[in-house]
Parts: sequence; C-alpha cells; structure tokens
Amino acid sequence: MLAVKVPKKEAEKTRRKLLELGVLAKGYSIKREGDFVLFPVTGPVEGFEIAEAEFEKVERRPRSYREVVEVPDEIRPLLPSSFDIIGDIAIIELPEELMPHGRAIGEAILKVHRHIKAVFAKGSKVEGEYRVRELIHLAGEKRTETVHRENGIRLKLDVARVYYTPRLATERMRIFRKTRPGEIVFDMFAGVGPYSILLARKAKLVFAVDLNPWAVKYLEENIRLNKANNVVPILGDVRKVAGNVKADRVVMNLPKFADRFLREAMLSVKPGGVVHYYGFGPEEDLYSEHEAKIKATARELGLSVNFIERRKVRPYAPRQFNIAIDFKVE
Ligand SMILES: C[S@@+](CC[C@H](N)C(=O)[O-])C[C@H]1O[C@@H](n2cnc3c(N)ncnc32)[C@H](O)[C@@H]1O
Repeated sequence: MLAVKVPKKEAEKTRRKLLELGVLAKGYSIKREGDFVLFPVTGPVEGFEIAEAEFEKVERRPRSYREVVEVPDEIRPLLPSSFDIIGDIAIIELPEELMPHGRAIGEAILKVHRHIKAVFAKGSKVEGEYRVRELIHLAGEKRTETVHRENGIRLKLDVARVYYTPRLATERMRIFRKTRPGEIVFDMFAGVGPYSILLARKAKLVFAVDLNPWAVKYLEENIRLNKANNVVPILGDVRKVAGNVKADRVVMNLPKFADRFLREAMLSVKPGGVVHYYGFGPEEDLYSEHEAKIKATARELGLSVNFIERRKVRPYAPRQFNIAIDFKVE
C-alpha cells in the first residue's frame, strides 16, 4: 500500500500532520526502516516522499462487551450499554430474557475489561433496612469483597453485604466542597463511609452511624485504610444517637426513608447548621412532598428552616429521581 516516508526525527511532526489531513490509514501499524519511518496512507500526500510498503494489520481491541458477546440476534438490542464497576467487580442489571445468557455476558465483560475479576447480575431491588440487594454470580471469581477508589479515598466493602453505589461519587464531592474546615459532621446513615471518610479530610470530627454490622466493620477498616482518625464509627440505630450529637452538618443518605428521620436530624444540628436531605421524587413534582414534611417537622419542634438548594442527583427509576434538598435549621 502507499506510504509516506520521512526521516525518524520528523516522525512525530509528520504523524500529527497526516492525522490533521485525515489521510493516515487506520488499522495498520507504523513501520521503521533504518533511519526512516513509514506511515500507511490512503492516497498520495503533497509535500511528502511517497513509497510502496507492506504494513502489519493491528487488531482493534473491542471497547464494549457487546461487540464480543454471543447471544441470539433477536435479544441483542436488550444488552445493557453500561454496568456498575465497584473495585474489580462488575454488577449488571439484566432483563429476564437475557438471564439464560448471563454466563456468556459475564465472560464477555471479563474478556473486554481486564481489570474486572468477577461479574454479578442484580438479583433483586435494594431492599430492607440495610439497603442491600441479592446478587447472582455470572462469571469470574466467586468473590464479593473488593476495594474501590472514589474521590481519592479507598473503600473496602462487600457488595453482597453492604449498600454502596459508585453513582453518588459526584454528589459526595459536592458535599465535600460545601464542608468548611473545623466542622462537626453527623453522617446518619454512613454505610462503609464514602461520605464520612471524604468529609473527614476537612471536618474536625465526623460521627458515622449505621445499623448494619457489616457496614460498620468495613467502615472501621476504611477509617484505618485512609487514616481518617477523626471519624467516630457507631453501630446502632441512629434514633438512639440523634440528639446527643450537635453538628454543623448532617448527611441523611437514606432516600427511601429519610423523611422518617427528620426529627432526629433537626435535633442533631446546631442553630444555623445545614442538613443534606435525600429522597426520591416523581419527575412531575420532585420536591414538594419532601419540603412539606421538612417544614412540618420544623414547626413541630418550634424551629424554622431555610431552603438553600435543591437538585436532581440521578435518575432512579422511570420518571423517578433521587433528589437532594439542602436546608438550614434556625
Ligand atoms: C442508602 S445507604 C447509604 C450508605 C452510605 N451513606 C453510602 O453513601 O454508601 C443507607 C444506610 O443506612 C443504614 N440504616 C438504615 N436504617 C438505619 C437506622 N435506623 N440507623 C442507622 N443506620 C441505618 C443502612 O444499613 C445503610 O447502610
């Protein structure tokens, strides 16, 4: 095929020029010949020495498991375009029709994403007080413990025993940016500590509570792993702790039931302190119901609230969003 031949020292400049002109032939490797470099091109290029040469074909690595997985054509459109990666574990949500092909899908994910060592399918919704879901092993190691990196911290966790989603990383960073040095933070539903440990980088002290003994075991390990010695892990029901803590900032990351804990949150915040409330809301009216409950609880306690910000955090279900409301309690 046609080639542009240039001295070695001009290779990089030439490569950029050929790319810019859009004449570099794709799928072939560049060739060295003594003090010269040969570029495969799609046609003659003005201003360059043109030669004839044979080039080796380069295999393009597939970017998605969908390019390599073998499933019947009629169900191919159902293949999810994305999945969660927690540490070296992939968790994918498969429609029923694809479940019989779970193993092939898992193997394809392992093949394309070399850093993934185990693949699971979601076997249920997030359920119960601990907010965990069933997982179905599809391929790779039968292991559910991993270490995940997020916002510069390391989180060890067991994906089958505790709640954790990487999809809140941006939201957690947002709360980190709002946190001021020296603050006391109360993380009411701490899980393995993705908020607590991050906020501890700025706060003076973080009280981190969770009901799930596995979550608190990993939280304690993560405190050690990240040297976050200003995080105080507490195992138990937050109702027993609330009121004994007076915080500048309260995080209520239990969207399914946070409205049931508003009293506890308001009793645990200093005057002028901020509460980060999470909930789920229908697309047509995301915030009204939650804001009404917040106002009603404040009224009952003889307090007043000031809404600072409200936002969609992420889509949750069709026409449903995970939302956040930040409010000040006076
Ligand atoms: C949605 S998860 C959030 C965990 C963590 N904040 C995160 O972002 O990964 C909610 C957590 O609240 C805990 N939880 C539920 N009810 C609780 C209660 N009454 N007291 C303390 N923790 C509770 C669950 O065990 C679960 O770990």
